[in-house]
Amino acid sequence: MEVQSESSMRRRVILFPLPLQGHITPMLQLASILHNKGLSITVIHTNFNSPNSVNYPHFDFHSIPDGLSEAVVSVADAVAVMTQVNDNCVEPFRDCLSKLLSNVEEEPIACLITDAMLHFTQSVADSLKLPRIVLRTSNISSFLVFAGTPLLHEKGYLPIKDPLSDAPVIEFPPLRVKDIPVVETHDPVKGQHLLLSMISQTKASSGLIWNSCEEIEQDAVTTLKQEFPIPIFAVGPFHKYFPAASSSLLSQDRSCISWLDKQAPKSVIYVSFGSIVAIKETEFLEIAWGLANSRVPFLWVVRPGSVHGAEWLEALPKGFLEMLDGRGHIVKWAPQQEILAHPATGGFWTHNGWNSTLESICEGVPMICHPSFGDQQVIARYVSDVWRVGLHLEKKLEKGEIERAVKRLILEDEGQEIRNRTMDLKEKVDISLRPGGSAYQALENLVNCIQSF
Ligand code: UDX
Repeated sequence: MEVQSESSMRRRVILFPLPLQGHITPMLQLASILHNKGLSITVIHTNFNSPNSVNYPHFDFHSIPDGLSEAVVSVADAVAVMTQVNDNCVEPFRDCLSKLLSNVEEEPIACLITDAMLHFTQSVADSLKLPRIVLRTSNISSFLVFAGTPLLHEKGYLPIKDPLSDAPVIEFPPLRVKDIPVVETHDPVKGQHLLLSMISQTKASSGLIWNSCEEIEQDAVTTLKQEFPIPIFAVGPFHKYFPAASSSLLSQDRSCISWLDKQAPKSVIYVSFGSIVAIKETEFLEIAWGLANSRVPFLWVVRPGSVHGAEWLEALPKGFLEMLDGRGHIVKWAPQQEILAHPATGGFWTHNGWNSTLESICEGVPMICHPSFGDQQVIARYVSDVWRVGLHLEKKLEKGEIERAVKRLILEDEGQEIRNRTMDLKEKVDISLRPGGSAYQALENLVNCIQSF
């Protein structure tokens, strides 16, 4: 009988996502990529926002208690969720990991991969002598700005005096003061601690994985390698390795696909602000009128609870939807990747969460950028000023400005030029994923690194 050597045995990787949609999705996509590369997958997750294990029959799932308070979950304060998970999960996570490590019947566990925001996992991994690789789910350029927080304080940019200032941030071109990432939270001191711990514990890790690639962020990769002397794996975009993933926490309304099927090519503006952003009722009405007045067909995701003080669409004036005469379609949650890939979609008005931005680039769909907080502010500036694949809605939401931006993107030559540049970037990303491309090579390096532990 052939005896399998230690090095040729199948290895298991343990992944632990942060329990928010924008973080769960890329972690599960990475898990599928690594599984396709011959690794066995275990996912440890919190009880809150637990992924649907039915969609991943080939993975092993373990739930741990998170002690998240009702208040934190209901106000959707992402910083509070991250802080509490870091504070509350140390023991449950250590117990779960210890049990998995002691199970000698399983394949050997090569390493742990956890979200960068779960900084506490580094010391747990160290204590169990297990290498930890970090997944940062956002982009590299915004991470470098977060890592530069002490410098931004030293140079007097932080705390921000004028959040609307157009003054340049010399140290991080082409950012302006108003683009410096700020996360609104009830507890800014804890927010700051979270950020600094994320950076220091990433530096202490055995490697750093990105849902991005050198073709999109060449300069940032170079700087990152200087500032973070650990192995770097820019493997993304993850979702291009296989068909649309099924990690959605909310059920997707597929009526929008049949609605899109009836629209002319590149005629529709798709509007969605991701899984966390919430807006004021006045802003909601400006958007509604801006879209309606543009007379451009629109598909709009309004997440229940995302308009302050409203359950869903009650703030719309009576007869608004009827007046549109089929030109607008509103849903609670949509199959976004399919929408972006649909021939009728001509543009994406986004909050520039990294997943949405990447999904848009990968389908060659130009954007209207309206960031809300944190990394979105940096990403939006890169979309409009560096990659030049979107228009930036810089001012406060006003129906005339919105109407103008939608028309410029969907109807005018300027929009077509932006679309052409988006297609160029998409093609570069496609090449990156093929043999010989940088993302393809980064994935090979990552798998070799995991196998070497
Ligand atoms: C959060 C942060 O807000 C963001 O800044 C950070 O970069 C990632 O984490 P979120 O706001 O949810 O993410 O935005 P985004 O990163 O764009 O992720 C949203 C995901 O939900 C995307 O993968 C998108 O395809 C999906 N989605 C969105 C749907 O499937 N249906 C929808 O209707 C809307």
